[in-house]
Amino acid sequence: MATNHFLASLDFSPENYDVLFSLASRIIDSPSDYGDRCRGKLMATLFYEPSTRTRLSFEAAMLRLGGGVISVASAKSSSVSKGESLGDTIRTVGGYADLIVMRHPKEGAAILAAEYSPVPLINGGDGAREHPTQTLTDLFTIHRFKEHFDGLTVAFCGDLRYGRTVHSLVKALARYSGAKFILISPPELRLPERIVREVKEINPAATLEETARMEDGLEIADVLYMTRIQKERFFNEEDYIRLRDTYILTEDKLRAASSEMIVMHPLPRVTEIDYAIDADPRAVYFDQARFGMFARMALIVHLLSDKEDGDA
Ligand code: NCD
Repeated sequence: MATNHFLASLDFSPENYDVLFSLASRIIDSPSDYGDRCRGKLMATLFYEPSTRTRLSFEAAMLRLGGGVISVASAKSSSVSKGESLGDTIRTVGGYADLIVMRHPKEGAAILAAEYSPVPLINGGDGAREHPTQTLTDLFTIHRFKEHFDGLTVAFCGDLRYGRTVHSLVKALARYSGAKFILISPPELRLPERIVREVKEINPAATLEETARMEDGLEIADVLYMTRIQKERFFNEEDYIRLRDTYILTEDKLRAASSEMIVMHPLPRVTEIDYAIDADPRAVYFDQARFGMFARMALIVHLLSDKEDGDA
């Protein structure tokens, strides 16, 4: 594969992702075959922003592979609070661990960190920019439920401006033929123009349709990707409060969707999906969270395997 770091969703080609999906599925089918795969290896998780799924799924993944984990759970509890630079922290931690997973509030922090990292570095989210391992999780979920990517209509709903999971996923999906996107958001939270441009560059034949009405996407989507309004990236509370309940997926609304559509969400959910939806077979967001752990196991195995070994 092209890189030893994983900083952005386009770092891997569709073929690279296929290799990871096959490996993740083999791990799901025979977990005990992989229980010693990373014995003797250490992964460091540096999370300078809150996280439940990304951090814990990475840590669970490494422990299930027989490896160990060292962790900094917040900037406050590390030497960053004493004024240490990111580069110095990464150089130091790279001397302790074989792999680093980092989440940081600043856009581009992962790129900077990778420059200093002597070991593979995985971007666990950098500000509103990228969240490539969520893309890996999301693509693996679509692969498991839909078995193909070509010709899919994907509706993204909610905070398309600040939602980094959307930014990473829409670009990765744009590479498949017949890609069609319905972008559902209030005008203030539209997908940034630079990402719309990138999608068109990646695939000039991809269709992007913007709308403020959730119904426009529900009726035709194969995948509905709901997102939370990203409170922490707003400049003022008033705007957040005004926009936070713009879209709420209810049983009533879901009636308009096809019985084959799947409802995804990177989680955490706030108010945008009614709890009653959880029992609907189309709601796959908790499967998605679980698949994320297996996808990350595959990623760790890949990044830590000797290049000659050829097995993923
Ligand atoms: C996402 C994130 O951190 O960007 N969460 C996650 O990793 N599953 C989505 C979000 O916080 O809304």
